[in-house]
Amino acid sequence: MSFVDKLRGIVGDKGLITDDSSKHPYLTDWRENYLGSALAVVRPATTEEVAAVVKLCAAEKVAIVPQGGNTGMSGGGTPHEAGREIVLSLTRMNRILDIDPIGYAMTVEAGVVLKTIQEAASDSDRLFPLSLGAEGSCTIGGNLSTNAGGVQVLHYGNARNLVLGLEVVLPNGEIWNGLRALKKDNTGYDLRDLYLGAEGTLGIITKAILKLWPKPKDHATSWSAVPSPQAAVELLSGAYAASEDNVTSCELMGRQGIDLVLRHIPGTADPLGDKHDWYVLMEWSSTRARRDGTNAGSLREKMESYLGEVMEKGLVLDAAIAQTEAQSQSLWALRENHSEASKKEGPSIKFDISVAVSKIPAFVTQGLAAMKRTLPECRPLPFGHVGDGNLHFNCQAPAGWDKARFTPHIEKISAAIYDLVVGYGGSISAEHGIGRIKVDELAHYRGKIELDTMRTLKRALDPQNIMNPGKVIQV
Ligand code: FAD
Ligand code: MLT
Ligand code: ZN
Repeated sequence: MSFVDKLRGIVGDKGLITDDSSKHPYLTDWRENYLGSALAVVRPATTEEVAAVVKLCAAEKVAIVPQGGNTGMSGGGTPHEAGREIVLSLTRMNRILDIDPIGYAMTVEAGVVLKTIQEAASDSDRLFPLSLGAEGSCTIGGNLSTNAGGVQVLHYGNARNLVLGLEVVLPNGEIWNGLRALKKDNTGYDLRDLYLGAEGTLGIITKAILKLWPKPKDHATSWSAVPSPQAAVELLSGAYAASEDNVTSCELMGRQGIDLVLRHIPGTADPLGDKHDWYVLMEWSSTRARRDGTNAGSLREKMESYLGEVMEKGLVLDAAIAQTEAQSQSLWALRENHSEASKKEGPSIKFDISVAVSKIPAFVTQGLAAMKRTLPECRPLPFGHVGDGNLHFNCQAPAGWDKARFTPHIEKISAAIYDLVVGYGGSISAEHGIGRIKVDELAHYRGKIELDTMRTLKRALDPQNIMNPGKVIQV
């Protein structure tokens, strides 16, 4: 029996894709940086099927590329070009298994789309706070495997902080049942933490118990033009106290990004009359409901008063506060469509960097200068999660340039930015992971002790190197 027939024996025709045109969407990444090849795309419906597929692959030494919604930014879910791997897609494992509102927990299969989880939590008067632009198509398995960040990390933490327990299929096909809904569990090494952020290189996450939070009952969203990144971090710093610790998002954008969104995304509009160099989108949320549905004592009232104060000090030049949910969504659309607009504009380099929040202003000044020094015609596109010290310090190719013309410049620009980040004690991958695109950078910028320890772990847990080989770290 051929390998593909053995796969069919496990998952049936419904769980197997072998023809080229149906396989294609699973073989390329969202950014279209890679186009791989695979023996088959396998879509198991249960953990037992995943385990049987992995056992077969282990016996036949066929490598596996786990995949969720395929929205990853680092190419981790795309197979290599050689065509000797399978893609194992979790998208048929899409059931919410249990919601425990009393215990603030939800048990899900790995292929559930993030937005479905958010909605299910909301229906139970709870919040699952992970929130990012791809939430309508990314899966929780992918979110946990990349330790995704998003726009509410400054208040709730990243994906690692939002999970209690995991079920994982190991590289030999055994099932590790770590589905424990425990807030406290100091029994030996934390295996769960190993698989979070491992980008599918150590095992396949098949189920998770997620943490829930109380659902906010009051929100306020503001859009502020600020004179500089320094003003942005000072605005945020004061907002923590002014909001009574209710800042749930703080995103920085430059004018270049707003112009791209307005050009490429239909239905978007500039909320302020004049153009400014920098903008901050802030969201405050509280579980305390507004009294009698009025504005009195509401977050919006507090935000108005705070923005009034900081305008007098010159930290904010102009501002708009959303009066309705629709207005809030329009402000968020300007932020969330940065990636889509940049993709439509043409090639770019994504720098998903982080430094200490207070070092953001100096980093931005030096980073912009370094980019321009390296390629004067390039268009810097800095935006992102300033409240986490995490900027997408992206570099859009000069207007009209295609990939072939831009690619020879990528290495030099990247080295300039990464050297600067490391000089600031920062990270070269704050939330998107290493995947395939930053394997060499990880090897270059992390120290020997860390790299040796990572390789030791990988070799011990996946001795045949069949779990997403060539991603994160070469062994
Ligand atoms: P995939 O892309 O399918 O896979 C990602 C990695 O995880 C791969 O290495 C894959 O092998 C592995 N993997 C997937 N599922 C499993 C599993 N069940 N078990 C083991 N390994 C698995 N990311 C952020 O962090 N913050 C953002 O703000 C953000 N915004 C985005 C906005 C847009 C418009 C887009 C397109 C992407 C954005 N991303 C962001 C990146 C991306 O959405 C996240 O990385 C997301 O967590 C990936 O989930 P996925 O299901 O699409 O995973
Ligand atoms: C986002 O925050 O919108 C994405 O993570 C950034 C990106 O596409 O670079
Ligand atoms: Zn981001």
